[in-house]
Amino acid sequence: MSVSYMTHPLIKHKITLLRKCSTGTGEFRKLIEEIAMMMGYEALADLPTADIEVRTPIERTMQPVINGKKPAVVPILRAGLGMVNGILALVPSAKVGHIGIFRDPETHLPQVYYGKLPEAISERQIVVLDPMLATGGTAVAAVDFIKEQGGKNIKFMSVLAAPEGVSVLMKKHPDIQLYVGCLDRCLNDDAYICPGVGDAGDRIFGTL
Ligand code: URA
Repeated sequence: MSVSYMTHPLIKHKITLLRKCSTGTGEFRKLIEEIAMMMGYEALADLPTADIEVRTPIERTMQPVINGKKPAVVPILRAGLGMVNGILALVPSAKVGHIGIFRDPETHLPQVYYGKLPEAISERQIVVLDPMLATGGTAVAAVDFIKEQGGKNIKFMSVLAAPEGVSVLMKKHPDIQLYVGCLDRCLNDDAYICPGVGDAGDRIFGTL
């Protein structure tokens, strides 16, 4: 699996703003969306193109457009929802699937309680969205589910990641491409990313 860490100063700047306790819900939501858009620009750099003929005011010419099945964006509920509009700003025609995962109280294993993916998923570029890659358990369960449904070309986008999560996802799914906004130091005893942003879902939806 290849891991790309974002180096663009604008992404770094916006991630710093996300971290601040004083960043309120509206600003947090906007920042997550903007960061997702900038990361999406990088993650979708290999979308296939095909030339079509267009007529400019000067002449006819063959020029590239995005080709093939529309990409599928798949947020992991609930925090991943905050990243969707950022990607749709780049590719408005992308399809959107959803995956909901909970931790089984007895086995402590992540279980998919809701999953709906666009049709012909095996032919689409899939971008899974979760702003926080913490233990990696949820990410692995989401990618397992997508592969069971036939998904092949999978990218995973996280704004922040803990080294533990990157390593778990890399070991379980070495074939996917991971895009990380910033690699943080570690997880704390409650599995929060440090220094992190706190609970990303609560901060996006104002449910603190
Ligand atoms: N999920 C979050 O929202 N924040 C973390 O730090 C880890 C997981």
